[in-house]
Amino acid sequence: MSGPRRTGAPNPGDGKDVRAVCVRCGTARPYAVAEPRCACGGLLDPEYDLAAAGVRQDAETPSERYFDLLPLRRPESALHIGDGNTPCVHARVLGARLGLDHLYLKDETLNATRTTKDRMAACVLAVFQEQGVFEFVASSTGNSSTSFAWGLRHIDGMKAHLFAGRDFLDRHQYTDHPGVELHVIDDDFVAAAAAGRAFAAEHGLLFEGGFFNSARREGLKLAYLEAYDEMPLPPAVVFQAVSSGMGVYGAHKGAREYRAMGRLPALPRFVCVQQDSCAPMWHAARDGSDRIRPQHILRHPRGLAKAILRGDPTNTYPYMRAITDDTGGRFAAVSDDEMIRARRWLAEDEGIEVCFAAAAALAGAAQLADRGEIGRDEPVLVNLTGGERDGQADD
Ligand SMILES: Cc1ncc(COP(=O)(O)O)c(C=O)c1O
Ligand SMILES: [Zn+2]
Repeated sequence: MSGPRRTGAPNPGDGKDVRAVCVRCGTARPYAVAEPRCACGGLLDPEYDLAAAGVRQDAETPSERYFDLLPLRRPESALHIGDGNTPCVHARVLGARLGLDHLYLKDETLNATRTTKDRMAACVLAVFQEQGVFEFVASSTGNSSTSFAWGLRHIDGMKAHLFAGRDFLDRHQYTDHPGVELHVIDDDFVAAAAAGRAFAAEHGLLFEGGFFNSARREGLKLAYLEAYDEMPLPPAVVFQAVSSGMGVYGAHKGAREYRAMGRLPALPRFVCVQQDSCAPMWHAARDGSDRIRPQHILRHPRGLAKAILRGDPTNTYPYMRAITDDTGGRFAAVSDDEMIRARRWLAEDEGIEVCFAAAAALAGAAQLADRGEIGRDEPVLVNLTGGERDGQADD
């Protein structure tokens, strides 16, 4: 295709003011998706005028409803790809089983491609369009790339190069679209990401950056804004399965924004759940380490929850550690048996079919409830981030 590939920072006078602020040194600049990091290496977070921000509850789509809290300048840039508007159910039967009277499940399996990553794609693709990015490179363990490929069906003239490790190839769907070019690497998804980055550099394309692309984090945030709005009580504890941590990062940022807007009284404790066969963040935290050390890294991770098989989260762990410290939360690790059991409970008690990553999040809640780390009266929110696709046990 033709057309501009990238533009520079948009004119700040054009539409809503969105600033990008470095979480490390505090430097602020106009938000530009092609600049994911500050010169100091810190993460750049979009910031909004929270005093003026509101939620348009009667809007039909999440990106219209939460437009004031998204890095989009113009309302007409918002994109809907069948993402969001998922129920947050009060799980009475399962809650009784776990000894939790206020257990809420955010059922993200009802997104168009059956994972919460559709929200990420809706936001990223809208921001790309608004900022004149029409060709980009990305990689993932499958769900994010699937959401991107799905999202491309809803816009014209955008091209994505999706890099996949051969072992994760069957987790990539909707790739039979003219805008999608799938690059298969004979290795794992970490190697696929490295190959994608090299390809982008060679061809002068934008590597969309995963965790470091704030539009991803902001899109994922909307699952939580919906949940905070849907729950009759503000959550005291939040659980999500963690790979890089971008979902929990968005959840925490959304909670801070909602607290500043008077929509949440306090921040919940965030619990980042990993599977014990691949739990580098949990190991580092247990060792009291503020960074991932060589002994925490898994070169060839294996596990039931394929979506979260990241053996080396060196670059993102410090941000996740800051969130657990800030909120009195923690990391948790769950076994295969705990995930299998949690998945069965969700199907039997609540009729929700989840992937193992989502099951891990519920297993984390069950583990902490069992240890008495959550009070029976505390409102608990579990993000069921993904469902089964085409009979695959884990997506
Ligand atoms: C279903 C599902 N749950 C959870 C995650 C966790 O991702 P992250 O920690 O990068 O937000 C992923 C990532 O691919 C996923 O696909
Ligand atoms: Zn900085």
